Amino acid sequence: MPHALIVDDEPDVVSWMAEVVKAEGYTVATADSLRSARSQLVRQAPDVLLTDLQLPDGRGTDLVHDLEAPGQTEVVVITGHASVDSAVEAVRIGATDYLVKPVDVERLLAILRRQPRPAELKNEIGELRDELRRVGRFGHLFGESPSMQALYDKLARVAPTSATVLLTGESGTGKELAARTIHDLSRRKRFPFLAINCGAISPNLIESELFGHEKGSFTGADRQHRGFFEQAKGGTIFLDEVTEMPLDLQVKLLRVLETGTFVRVGTTEPVATDVRIIAATNRSPEKAQAEGKFRDDLYHRLNVFPIHMPPLRERGTDIEMLAQQFLRELNHAEGTGKTFSPEALAKLYEMNWPGNVRELKNYVQRAYILADDVVEGAQAPEAAAPPSEEQSGLVVIRVGTPLAEVERRVTMATLEQCGHVKRTAARVLGISLKTLYNRLDAYAANAKLGGEGDGDEHEDVKSGEPAHH
Ligand SMILES: Nc1ncnc2c1ncn2[C@@H]1O[C@H](COP(=O)(O)OP(=O)(O)OP(=O)(O)O)[C@@H](O)[C@H]1O
Ligand SMILES: [Mg+2]
Repeated sequence: MPHALIVDDEPDVVSWMAEVVKAEGYTVATADSLRSARSQLVRQAPDVLLTDLQLPDGRGTDLVHDLEAPGQTEVVVITGHASVDSAVEAVRIGATDYLVKPVDVERLLAILRRQPRPAELKNEIGELRDELRRVGRFGHLFGESPSMQALYDKLARVAPTSATVLLTGESGTGKELAARTIHDLSRRKRFPFLAINCGAISPNLIESELFGHEKGSFTGADRQHRGFFEQAKGGTIFLDEVTEMPLDLQVKLLRVLETGTFVRVGTTEPVATDVRIIAATNRSPEKAQAEGKFRDDLYHRLNVFPIHMPPLRERGTDIEMLAQQFLRELNHAEGTGKTFSPEALAKLYEMNWPGNVRELKNYVQRAYILADDVVEGAQAPEAAAPPSEEQSGLVVIRVGTPLAEVERRVTMATLEQCGHVKRTAARVLGISLKTLYNRLDAYAANAKLGGEGDGDEHEDVKSGEPAHH
């Protein structure tokens, strides 16, 4: 006879459910707190665990950690209200279903009667996804643009499987966050998530870091060491910058992926692995492959389920949404109530974000620190870091730039180079001093017409519409 454990602190709910569950042919145990539930778990492991989310002494979801054989028990979370957070929490801990109070008897019966029902489960995940979509976030990721929606779809599809995932995308696009989201939405959630930067570990140590070593296997190996593959047992290993891994180790990793076993340094005994691999790179894997830095066979083996993270510039209004989110977090942490000025928000769209979300986050943080109540913005890092065009003595001009613009930029850069001595600049440019003055006046007038523009290329494209001319 299958066994069910019902955990809820409302006696009426418990006794009513116990009746229904018994009638379905289960033996039933009940509990009204985490404590009593734990002692019930020890007595008999249930086939189905129905637990309330909020219990007097903690979260019902914590019981998942107390299950002897987690795979054997179907966990159903009962929530007081159908909030996104409780749904996320339920999925994260690997619950197969959740019920909303007052519990619908038909739904409860459906859960008890089905054994695995993958199609329905997929439906539930689909519903959850739709719900999350409405609030513009998924797992640890925020954003509601179409490119992020497409990403969430892929993450939701791959998360519950054990497929290897290869994440690509520019720096700061959220690859690590996506990897954590996959982990947290899988049944591996209660086991470790270990992130390893393959480019940062010394090539001599990386093998023993990954696979461990026996005592005495090399100089300095004075005791046995458990590698990441053993430490992450049951969980997920995130191999960041995987293209930076030494080639000989790539061969070994490939073998692990193919055989499901690894060998500790200094031994020959294969050890079975139980980890999911998520790899990432911010370089083009194809290019690294062409350069001979990334093995072909490993690439294909990792590329089972490729996911590309869209750069911030392809996320439309997410840029504003993310900025608001980061500001909210800062306000929350500091107990303040600062807000963006409309100008500061508009400016976000005009800026370049080569560091993507990470850069935006840092930017908001700087702007926040500089602001009293209204956040106006901060200096863009790219303007601060490399010398400006004017200072560098070089002007980069894209083909198709209007000649008037070419003239303006060369003139301004020359003026800067000449230490703002107009007479020298005019001589260098081969024009009269009067012509230089006329031009500078014209540029200044134009800049006013085009708004606050300091005349960089980006702004001209935006504000220099033909309508002005
Ligand atoms: N969609 C997002 N929502 C909220 N925060 C995000 C999002 N994407 C990235 N971040 C934040 O931006 C920062 C960078 O993210 P992450 O480390 O995941 O990027 P990455 O792609 O791994 O970058 P790199 O290639 O440089 O390692 C982190 O602070 C992360 O929390
Ligand atoms: Mg990263």
